[in-house]
Amino acid sequence: MELIVVSDYDELSKTAASLMAKEIKEKERPVLGLATGSTPLGTYKELVRLHQEEGLDFSKVVTFNLDEYIGFSPLDRNSYNFYMWENLFFEVNIKRQNVYIPKGDAPNSEEFCKWYEEEIKRVGGINLQLLGIGRDGHIGFNEPGSSFSDRTHVKKLADVTIRDNARFFEKIEDIPHYAMTMGIGTILEAKKIILIANGEHKARICAEFIERPVTKQVPASSMQLHSDVTVILDNAAASRLRKK
Ligand code: F6R
Repeated sequence: MELIVVSDYDELSKTAASLMAKEIKEKERPVLGLATGSTPLGTYKELVRLHQEEGLDFSKVVTFNLDEYIGFSPLDRNSYNFYMWENLFFEVNIKRQNVYIPKGDAPNSEEFCKWYEEEIKRVGGINLQLLGIGRDGHIGFNEPGSSFSDRTHVKKLADVTIRDNARFFEKIEDIPHYAMTMGIGTILEAKKIILIANGEHKARICAEFIERPVTKQVPASSMQLHSDVTVILDNAAASRLRKK
């Protein structure tokens, strides 16, 4: 695991975006795994800037998103589908048919999950997976206790995750309790992984997944089993690490 500690969120976003841009430029058909949430917003903003000001070309890029809330249509403002189009896809020259996002309103979620896994295989696997991390150590929506061999599936969200997500919803009854997510097994098959985290509130979990033994109770500790992971933290998120 390579660890990069940067001074602030802006530098974190630029560092992550430049690693992704490198992958996009180097690969014939770059396949990216993408995350949502607050952490990658700056990374996507920088990727948009690289496209608009420096001509970074997304025409051959294929993307697979990690997760989506169950019951949410792609047009719902709170869906991850909406988030991705708003924050990245509408702003770059990606082809609509190259965008894959789990379908929260699929009539048969089990069938959809199988199809999603097959599509990832069909394009030759994910070259670079971008991850955030939840305060309970989740990656995608693989909550503590998830098996490291899980494939794309529907998962009940942990209470802490539901509470953390509440800030995005106006009414309590709108906060989702289930999500469709790539499994840790799916994530670990990506050729490269970048995990980003910022802020004091992520410091405890970052020290745990990086420095403590691998355990199912901290899903992100599975990163220790992968041979090409870059973790990028700002100073605040790195503040509880014993060794920097
Ligand atoms: C979202 C995802 C989640 C988030 C995590 C952190 O696609 O996969 O695992 O990365 O919940 O969210 P933020 O960045 O909002 O702290």
